Amino acid sequence: MESYTTIIVEVIDRVGLVRLNRPQALNALNATLMEELGDALISCDSDDKVGAIVITGNEKAFAAGADIKEMVDASSVEMIKRDNISRFDRIRSIKKPIIAAVSGWCLGGGNELAMSCDMIVASETARFGQPEITIGVIPGAGGTQRLTKAVGKAIAMEMVLNNRTLSAEEALQHGLVNRVVPVERYLEEALGLAKEVASRAPLAVRFGKEAINHAYESFLSDGLRDERQAFYFLFASQDQKEGMIAFIEKRQPIWKGE
Ligand code: CAA
Repeated sequence: MESYTTIIVEVIDRVGLVRLNRPQALNALNATLMEELGDALISCDSDDKVGAIVITGNEKAFAAGADIKEMVDASSVEMIKRDNISRFDRIRSIKKPIIAAVSGWCLGGGNELAMSCDMIVASETARFGQPEITIGVIPGAGGTQRLTKAVGKAIAMEMVLNNRTLSAEEALQHGLVNRVVPVERYLEEALGLAKEVASRAPLAVRFGKEAINHAYESFLSDGLRDERQAFYFLFASQDQKEGMIAFIEKRQPIWKGE
């Protein structure tokens, strides 16, 4: 396996295990991490020794979102030019099943990453949310689209407009996750599930995933495009600067509506 700086990759029993590894930043998804994650997933996808993939973080955080420090100063045009969110498109292109093993914070881009996977196994301590509104923006990597399909309009509105977070148990009730297990077992449970799926007929698994995504993703591309444009557009606003600077300075933002 290649050596990466922000993730750790290994293969266990035909399962490619990718650990996000920026614990000092609660696994915030910076450009390097997203690039390395995409590379690792693509290499697992083409590796005959791998039948399924698990993405995990650590007990405290799956991922606390896109890296705010990396984008705080960016203009709208810079965000469009960087187009960091297109790195999420690589996850959509993976043909083998991907399971997210989530413990602790699963926020913003972290929740969008988990929802880009095919199944989610959560520890009892997992906490799901789209807190972008608190830093003056909206989700940009599928949050408004996949969350609405997963939990329905009512809960999605509260999460995106008012930073409502869901406990693991609530996430299970609302259909966001597959299973909730004690924190000591969440990774083992996800690896076990991945191993079972990896033992099944590979072509049938591949086409099964593709067919379900087809049912699930009708109109998704249009929605993702609109969401991404709105997310990048918000970097032309003063409130985006204020929201992200306030987060970094650990104070409450003062909104201007401009
Ligand atoms: N980006 C960059 N750094 C982050 C981060 C992020 N998303 N989340 C946490 N960190 C950093 C903190 O700045 C802090 O670093 P320092 O020690 O250098 O100050 C470190 O990780 C630990 O975080 P906290 O001290 O804040 O930990 P906490 O336990 O007090 O709070 C938390 C945990 C509630 C998750 C809080 O860190 C938080 O609110 N994080 C930001 C969540 C967020 O707004 N995510 C959305 C990002 S935007 C996005 O994702 C857009 C998109 O759709 C693509």
